[in-house]
Amino acid sequence: MYIGIALTVCRKRLTVPRLSALLRRRHHGAQMKLNLGCGSQILPGYCNVDKVGEPDLKWDLESFPWPWPDNAAEEVLLSHVLEHLGQAPATFLAIMQELYRVCRNDALVKVVVPHPRSDFFLGDPTHVRPILPMTLEMFSRRVNEEWRQQGASNTPLALQCGVDFDIVSIVQMLEEPYLSLYRSGKIAAEQLQEIERTQFNIVSQIEIVLKAVK
Ligand SMILES: C[S@@+](CC[C@H](N)C(=O)[O-])C[C@H]1O[C@@H](n2cnc3c(N)ncnc32)[C@H](O)[C@@H]1O
Repeated sequence: MYIGIALTVCRKRLTVPRLSALLRRRHHGAQMKLNLGCGSQILPGYCNVDKVGEPDLKWDLESFPWPWPDNAAEEVLLSHVLEHLGQAPATFLAIMQELYRVCRNDALVKVVVPHPRSDFFLGDPTHVRPILPMTLEMFSRRVNEEWRQQGASNTPLALQCGVDFDIVSIVQMLEEPYLSLYRSGKIAAEQLQEIERTQFNIVSQIEIVLKAVK
């Protein structure tokens, strides 16, 4: 797994076209690419989906089943969406199950979320749940099996939901002044990790790439 700190000024969100370029590196022919909760970011080559506006497909992602067959998608983008979905835990788990069902083996799922300890997350009343890398790691069978062997009490959500997502990479976008301090060598990556864990407004957003394992 790659864990990185992005050297980009980030009071602003990443633009979706840049995210799309990252996802496009893994193009495998004609399979479907989904941009879920697209908002106004309509991406060429994707099925752009939202419950409002004028997307390619108007769909409420909290309505099940989703309108795609099993194994239909090679890429899925959820940019600043997952934190808006599934206020009830059962709904959130159903979303993860539908995401897994529509992904083919090895499909990449890029999730971009505001850091839960940032004003970007706390300031929006339509954010219904914090998402951390560990939230998504709970949907990895390998991690669940490790917990089981260790006798850990963590809920094995991959096993319970019948899904399996590996985390491929995690990139955290630093706020200023931490970005400049890191760039100038005045703060080390280890110190940043510690203050990110305990303080607010250190990281603005987290980009997590998952891979569906089938
Ligand atoms: C913060 S916007 C992000 C839009 C875009 N992905 C971006 O990065 O600019 C969240 C989007 O998720 C959509 N959304 C929220 N709940 C949804 C649901 N249940 N079904 C479909 N779309 C939903 C909203 O309508 C909105 O367009």
